[in-house]
Amino acid sequence: MRVLGIETSCDETAVAIVEAPAGMKPVGRILANVVYSQLSEHRRFGGVVPEIAARAHLERIDGLVAEALEDAKVGLGDLDGIAATGGPGLIGGVMVGVMTAKALAFAHDKPFLAVNHLEGHALSVRLTEEVDFPYLLLLVSGGHCQLLTVRGPGDYTRLGTTIDDAAGECFDKTAKLLGLGFPGGPAIEKMARGGDSGRFALPRPMWRKPGCDFSFSGLKTAVRQTVQKLPAGDRQAAADLCASFQRTVGDVLADRCANAFELAPLPILVVAGGVAANVYLRGRLEAVAGEHGTRLVAPPVELCTDNGAMIAWAGLEHLRLGRTDALDFRPRPRWPLDAGVGSPA
Ligand code: KG4
Ligand code: ZN
Repeated sequence: MRVLGIETSCDETAVAIVEAPAGMKPVGRILANVVYSQLSEHRRFGGVVPEIAARAHLERIDGLVAEALEDAKVGLGDLDGIAATGGPGLIGGVMVGVMTAKALAFAHDKPFLAVNHLEGHALSVRLTEEVDFPYLLLLVSGGHCQLLTVRGPGDYTRLGTTIDDAAGECFDKTAKLLGLGFPGGPAIEKMARGGDSGRFALPRPMWRKPGCDFSFSGLKTAVRQTVQKLPAGDRQAAADLCASFQRTVGDVLADRCANAFELAPLPILVVAGGVAANVYLRGRLEAVAGEHGTRLVAPPVELCTDNGAMIAWAGLEHLRLGRTDALDFRPRPRWPLDAGVGSPA
C-alpha cells in the first residue's frame, strides 16, 4: 500500500510518499519526502504571515508533487491513496493542500484522505518504530501541548491540554525576546548547550498540581522580566537563561507525564510534534518514563517537525482500515484530535 501525503497547514510545503508492506505490520518505508521551508519569506516579520504562506504553498505545491513522484520512481497510477492535511491550521494553506489532493484523487480515480495534522504527529512514530496501540502521547508543537491516550487511528482520549500557550510558542517567544530568531526551539536548544541551567529560577506553572493540564504564560512573563534585566550583549547570561528555561520546561513536561502514567498506565509514552525534536527534553522524558516503568519512544528528530511523511502515513493507517473521505470534505481551521472520526469541526 502506497500513499502520497501533502502538508500545508503552516509554513512548510511538504510532500511525501510512504509505503507499508501487506498485512498490519506497523512499520513503513519512506519513498520520497520533500519539503520547501518558507522560513526566509516569513523571517523578517518574526512569525508566519498567513497570506504569504498560502501564496507560497500555491506556487510550490505542483513542483513538489512532481519531485516526490520522481524521487519515489512511481507514477500517480501506482498510488493507493492521496492524503492532505485537512486541518487544523492556517486555513489558506490547508485549502491549497486539500484542493491539490482532491484534484489528483479525482483525476486519477484514487481515494482521498483528509488527515488531522495532529494525528499526523500522533501516528508518525509507527512509520519508523514498532509501537502497538494503545499508547500514551505527549504532543508538543508550536500550537498545541496535550497529553492523550491513543487507542487507534481516529480514537483518542485527551487527558490534559494547555490552558494558555503551547510549549513551542513559549520557545519561540523566549527566542524572540533574546533576539535569537525564528523558529525559536532549535536556537534555544543550541544556546542552552553552553549555559548554566541552575542560574535562573523560573516559575513552573502547574508543577506538582493534580491532573495533566499545562500552562506556559507565567513562564513566558518571567522570561520577559528576566530578559529586561540582562546586561545588553551578555551572551553567557543569554545562554544561562536558555538553559534555565529549557530545564524548567523539562520539569513541567516530566511532572505532567508522571501524572498521566498514574491516570493511564500504559507501557509506552510517545512524544511527538516540533518540540519533540529537542534532545534535552527527550532525555528528561526518557528518565521520567523509566521511573514509572514506561518506555519513551519518539520519531526520528527530522520527522518531529512538520513533514509530508507523517500525513501520508496517517492517511495510510486510515486507508488500510477502509476509511476514506468524500471529495466535498471542507477544510477545518480547528479540529480537535479527540473529536473522533468524521465528526464536525
Ligand atoms: O510541529 P511543528 O513543526 O509545527 C506545528 O504543528 O506547530 O512545531 C513547531 C514548533 C515551533 O514552536 C518550534 O520552535 C518548535 O516546534 N521546535 C523546537 C525544536 N525544534 C522545533 N522546540 C524545542 N527544541 C527544538 N529542537
Ligand atoms: Zn505540526
